[in-house]
Amino acid sequence: MTGAPVITIDGPSGAGKGTIAHRLADTLGWHFLDSGALYRVTGQACLIEGVDWGDHAGVTDIARTLDVSFTSAASGEVLVAYKGQDVSRAIRTEEGGRGASTVAAIPSVRTALLQRQREFAKPPGLVADGRDMGTVVFPHAQLKIFLTASASERAERRYKQLIAKGESVSLPRLLEDIEERDARDSQRSVSPLVPAEDAIVVDSSGVPIDEVFARVMGYVADKGLK
Ligand code: DC
Repeated sequence: MTGAPVITIDGPSGAGKGTIAHRLADTLGWHFLDSGALYRVTGQACLIEGVDWGDHAGVTDIARTLDVSFTSAASGEVLVAYKGQDVSRAIRTEEGGRGASTVAAIPSVRTALLQRQREFAKPPGLVADGRDMGTVVFPHAQLKIFLTASASERAERRYKQLIAKGESVSLPRLLEDIEERDARDSQRSVSPLVPAEDAIVVDSSGVPIDEVFARVMGYVADKGLK
């Protein structure tokens, strides 16, 4: 432990975690950990190195020695590189998401990435975005938020994002995918998606993002973190 304060933002995908966590880190001037990106890069590195996602020992070796870097572009966009090669786009595709969720279910991969995630906790502080930030990676975090939203609202948000990108998608199909993924994520044996006992659960269903942010900032102030 470095002693730097940590705020964890956990929850299912589509709940607005990324937006809230980024904004929080910017507002406080703290470091930011996108833990999902580490799992995504691990999956991508396997594709690059020719390691099958089902080869647990091979994937674990990749995770242990993962040469990954995050740099902020002038546009504010975060560029993610593996061995110096820009993989920012590749890791955000549907295949990138599948790879991440496959490798994230391997216990030895999670262990291999644990210390690396903890190293992000440096002064003046860290905002950590993920699924198990408050339960496993930073159990002593000063503030733990579990951000959620109904499955139907998350499906609608995802639908709008994909349509804006010009992709053709079906809303009922997206809802089905989200419900399946929720069940898989919350029932898996290692680091399941559950709120930490001391987490504050924030339901963003029907709440504008600015209002969600204001509520979170209220909790930050209550803890004396700003
Ligand atoms: O947050 P994201 O969609 O980029 O996460 C990608 C995948 O990684 C997702 O399937 C869940 C998994 N993940 C995880 O198991 N633990 C984390 N702390 C973050 C992400």
